[in-house]
Amino acid sequence: MNLQDYIAQAHEVEHEGVAALQSAADLDALEAARIATLGDRHGRVKALQEALRSIAKEDKPAAGKRFNEARQKLEALHAERKAALDRAHAPTTTEDLSLPARRTWRGAKHPVTLVIEEIEEIFRELGFTIAQGPEAETEWYNFGSLNFPPNHPALDAHDTLYLEKGGVLRTHTSPVQVRTLQKYEPPIRVLIPGNVYRRDFFDASHAPMFAQVEGLCVDEGISFVDLKSTLNRFAERIFGASRTRFRPSFFPFTEPSAEMDVQCGICGGSGCPACKGTGWIEILGSGMVHPKVLEAAGIDSERYTGWAFGMGPGRIAISRSGIPDIRILYDSDVRFLEQISE
Ligand code: PHE
Repeated sequence: MNLQDYIAQAHEVEHEGVAALQSAADLDALEAARIATLGDRHGRVKALQEALRSIAKEDKPAAGKRFNEARQKLEALHAERKAALDRAHAPTTTEDLSLPARRTWRGAKHPVTLVIEEIEEIFRELGFTIAQGPEAETEWYNFGSLNFPPNHPALDAHDTLYLEKGGVLRTHTSPVQVRTLQKYEPPIRVLIPGNVYRRDFFDASHAPMFAQVEGLCVDEGISFVDLKSTLNRFAERIFGASRTRFRPSFFPFTEPSAEMDVQCGICGGSGCPACKGTGWIEILGSGMVHPKVLEAAGIDSERYTGWAFGMGPGRIAISRSGIPDIRILYDSDVRFLEQISE
């Protein structure tokens, strides 16, 4: 090809390339125009470059110069058109995307739920499973099977919520001991979380409904040593390296019975408002399952023995967080729950 023809061809490639790139109305059309004009394989600029080979040696510098001009012009135009179309494509927004996001309250588990879950985890590691029973209970399961005499003050309508059509709202989780013993063969190791009801006024230390967690272990050869060592281990786990003490007590369904106290974690035992100046916090009632309870559930009390305990996880939550009034636990006030929930 002679120089004159080459320059004419370069002019044409440039002219048509400009027209194609400029008329592309969107990014797809621009890409098609780019491939036709500047594409590596069949682009017209590429063909123009290849045609340089047929130019006589002395004309090569002039032809090469014209080729470079055409290519640079088209590449610059393509970049400019692409930037313009990208901008047009970007979402139009008036929001300030650099503002920090508003924090939302995601909710959290109730402090009593957290304590129950922690108790469950400790006893699960010790081989206990979870059992549950009804909150509306018969008088027999709630009292009779548990060896309450018919004249026991707990049966009084002043203390217990009786249901109109018979039965009671269970006053403790102990009836589930009997239900479990009826249903399963020893060895039995169960933890029984649940709500219980008492005819109490709502005040700083009483609520008509509260949570309990019961424990029951029945097998051959179970003794008070098992009770003490298991509950000591539990206290260690849930309160850190606290000291415990067992005080003799009385429940109709355990014999002997004991209440377990844990040294106050807030004052370390020297006495403070949280432990009412005693240095100890009462955590649970416990004892060896009364033979009459085993018999009521159809278990041979000559062959099997066992121990049981019952505690209020709300008390643990309160002593832990130094909550002055248990009504806070029932108010569902997020300003408060936010501070003590995890
Ligand atoms: N049920 C008893 C209560 O509500 C607690 C308890 C359970 C005591 C098991 C001994 C054994 O106070």
